[in-house]
Amino acid sequence: MTANISRAIYRTLPSRVQSIARTLWQAIPWTKSGRHLRWVRGTYVDFGRQQRRQFFLGAARFLHINRPIEGYYFEFGCNEANTMRMAWDSFRYLFDFTYVGFDSFEGLPEIEKIDQQLIWEKGKLAFAEERFISTCVNHGMPRERLQTVRGFYDRSLTNELASRFAPKKAAVIYIDCDLYVSTVSVLNWIPQFLQPGTVIMFDDWNCFAADPDKGERRAWREFLQANARLRFEPFISTAEGQAFICIGVD
Ligand SMILES: C[S@@+](CC[C@H](N)C(=O)[O-])C[C@H]1O[C@@H](n2cnc3c(N)ncnc32)[C@H](O)[C@@H]1O
Repeated sequence: MTANISRAIYRTLPSRVQSIARTLWQAIPWTKSGRHLRWVRGTYVDFGRQQRRQFFLGAARFLHINRPIEGYYFEFGCNEANTMRMAWDSFRYLFDFTYVGFDSFEGLPEIEKIDQQLIWEKGKLAFAEERFISTCVNHGMPRERLQTVRGFYDRSLTNELASRFAPKKAAVIYIDCDLYVSTVSVLNWIPQFLQPGTVIMFDDWNCFAADPDKGERRAWREFLQANARLRFEPFISTAEGQAFICIGVD
């Protein structure tokens, strides 16, 4: 009865007030929605964060034990700088990496047929380059340690760009650009930056319900087939990601 009256009153409220009422209601710990929200924000979200931290700290541990493996931290797919900040937190006290973020800073490109999924559309995940940089700098990254390369990979990842970064190699390559097509462009560009010990980390390994004929899994399989001289060992695996260690480049 009381619940019915509350619901009837709730329906008469303007949508902004409804949204505030909903937030307040969910914050009450002893209600069903309060318990739900606490579990999602606490246990579930924390689990995701911890797994990602393990991913990065695992790479840090490997690289430190096997030092010297120095060079770049390359990140393909920068968005809100969550992983760039985590990379900085995980590596800053152990290594002198130069951190490079590659992104369109205009979000996803046109979605090709092979990458179509309800969640993705052109322009989604756009985050301005200046905002990305200030997010990193406000987090404590010295500005001179961070570089950005703006543009869609099929046009930005050129030989000319590669010679700008050569001859230094990459210590870590973080690939978080969601799509098969984007990952193909990235993988085609990185071979000259590989050295024994480079860690390649795929953030979206289990996208497309882990279908091996889609996304990063497919791009990686094709890359291995086309580059038999490059050898890798599987490394850390999480609910979302998969890392590999480069063990040979010829
Ligand atoms: C999931 S977000 C990255 C999240 C980020 N690592 C973080 O932790 O905040 C994917 C990013 O990949 C970028 N991206 C995807 N395909 C791209 C392409 N072909 N060229 C350039 N950027 C691309 C998008 O702009 C987006 O910022």
